[in-house]
Amino acid sequence: MLPKTHLIYFSPTGTTSKVIKQVAAGLDSRDVEHHNLTRMEQEFSLCIDDGVAVIGVPVYAGRVPEIFLKRIEKLSGEGIPAVLIALYGNRAYEDALVELRDVITAKGFNVIAAGAFIGEHSYSTDERPVAANRPDAGDMQKAREFGAAITNKLQGECNQTTLDISGNTPYKERVPLGGVCPETKPELCTLCKTCARVCPAFIITVDQEVSTKAENCIMCCACVKLCPYHARVMRHPMVEARRDMLVKNCSERKEPSCYL
Ligand SMILES: Cc1cc2nc3c(=O)[nH]c(=O)nc-3n(C[C@H](O)[C@H](O)[C@H](O)COP(=O)(O)O)c2cc1C
Repeated sequence: MLPKTHLIYFSPTGTTSKVIKQVAAGLDSRDVEHHNLTRMEQEFSLCIDDGVAVIGVPVYAGRVPEIFLKRIEKLSGEGIPAVLIALYGNRAYEDALVELRDVITAKGFNVIAAGAFIGEHSYSTDERPVAANRPDAGDMQKAREFGAAITNKLQGECNQTTLDISGNTPYKERVPLGGVCPETKPELCTLCKTCARVCPAFIITVDQEVSTKAENCIMCCACVKLCPYHARVMRHPMVEARRDMLVKNCSERKEPSCYL
């Protein structure tokens, strides 16, 4: 059994958190501490000097989301082993895992393993599904097996240099977010405030109606997927076009990639 596992993650629609919890289950640690950075209003500051860290993020336009990079500005690891997970919506993870490796290494961690897993795409809808219901049972099993393989690695020698991961440096150019956000269908909305409670960017306010500060929206679609009344929809023409592209080109099932 391993000592402490620190789970550090950003996961607006929950697919990243599902996978890293399974990796942690495979690691068979006696003590798991969660650092959920999805909705972090106060400053996050953490120096890890024991156990192992499992760090998970969704892929946004082939990169690590900027909001996550801001949230981990004050994270550091004293040479402790780190396992990285990038969750992508069955299109591609491009440079996200390489970027995450570089950022986490620069913070003092020893990156010993990395994986790219697949989760339902943020833009997926019932009518236009993209990787619907993933991670599924097969993905979860792979995540646990990956965790178990990492345990074996940790029990042996693991003082490797840089983990060789698919992706490029310099990373692809960041696609700016902002200006496009989900809208509310007033006929379905009950003003229950779930959308405001789940928004990682804290840009939704609910009063007599729902207001969204579009310029700061990260398009994660947590408010859409978690609205109990299906009153939030992302139907901006730019997203509709992207969704069409994804349905057309990214419907064939991809499988997780693991680097050890
Ligand atoms: C702004 C944005 C950009 C995205 N870019 C990509 C991408 O480049 N490739 C991909 O396969 N999925 C992409 N996705 C889909 C997410 O990576 C995927 O839905 C992931 O499972 C979300 O993680 P979460 O459930 O932890 O929030 C993107 C999603 C958003 C909101």
